[in-house]
Amino acid sequence: MKIGVLGSGHVGGTLGKRWAKSGPEIVFASRDPQSEQMKKLVDGVEGTARAGTVSEAANASDVLLLATPWSAAEAAIRSAGDLSGKILIDAVNPLIVPSLEGLSLGTTTSAGEMVAQWASGAKVVKAFNTVGYYVMAKPEFEAGPVAMFYCGDDAEAKLVVKRLIEDVGFEGLDAGPLTQARVLEPFAMLWISLAVKYGYGPGIAFHFMRR
Ligand SMILES: NC(=O)c1ccc[n+]([C@@H]2O[C@H](COP(=O)([O-])OP(=O)(O)OC[C@H]3O[C@@H](n4cnc5c(N)ncnc54)[C@H](OP(=O)(O)O)[C@@H]3O)[C@@H](O)[C@H]2O)c1
Repeated sequence: MKIGVLGSGHVGGTLGKRWAKSGPEIVFASRDPQSEQMKKLVDGVEGTARAGTVSEAANASDVLLLATPWSAAEAAIRSAGDLSGKILIDAVNPLIVPSLEGLSLGTTTSAGEMVAQWASGAKVVKAFNTVGYYVMAKPEFEAGPVAMFYCGDDAEAKLVVKRLIEDVGFEGLDAGPLTQARVLEPFAMLWISLAVKYGYGPGIAFHFMRR
């Protein structure tokens, strides 16, 4: 499997490195693929990885991770070109920045649904938006696996994403169709506000229990 990472920052860099370790080949996209930062990222990968432009990463890959700031998501998708048939994992939260005081849209739509409109023909699955990259780097907790909800409208794409979630060490939980991004994005705000504002710090995560 080849995974293109659109937005190779905290989330993209962390997940790309972890996936590379378990087998997939990673193309880390950047607007400046020759930068020192990208060289350092690729050199730190245990597995197969290279840096490229957004369109190179998209063309070379069957699965893409969108991990840009919300303000750059549409531009990144436009730069990627034709995404028909590709799986696009959307980790983006439409945060109000820099205050992180809330989301700039929601309840009757979501970033996930807007991403699906822009990425015409792609199979969009919302995932990896509900915990910080710090947890993605090390998702092991004594209490059990960390819940990672995902949602989307294509059953096969969701199975692929569930595997990629579990390869990183989370419990993948199907939360339903892509409209469920309307609740997964505010759920991310709970993690962000607890971790950043209300004293819990970034080493927190949610475990899913069933009776
Ligand atoms: N940080 C977290 O813990 C966390 C957790 C869950 C979800 N998220 C969400 O994940 C997304 C990424 O967060 P992050 O913290 O990883 O951000 P980040 O560290 O700032 O990385 C974002 C990357 O996006 C790239 N980028 C910016 N504008 C672009 C454009 N027009 N086209 C293509 N690439 C562009 C930049 O790479 P170049 O400059 O190299 O192009 C940058 O490295 C955000 O939407 C955030 O809400 C974050």
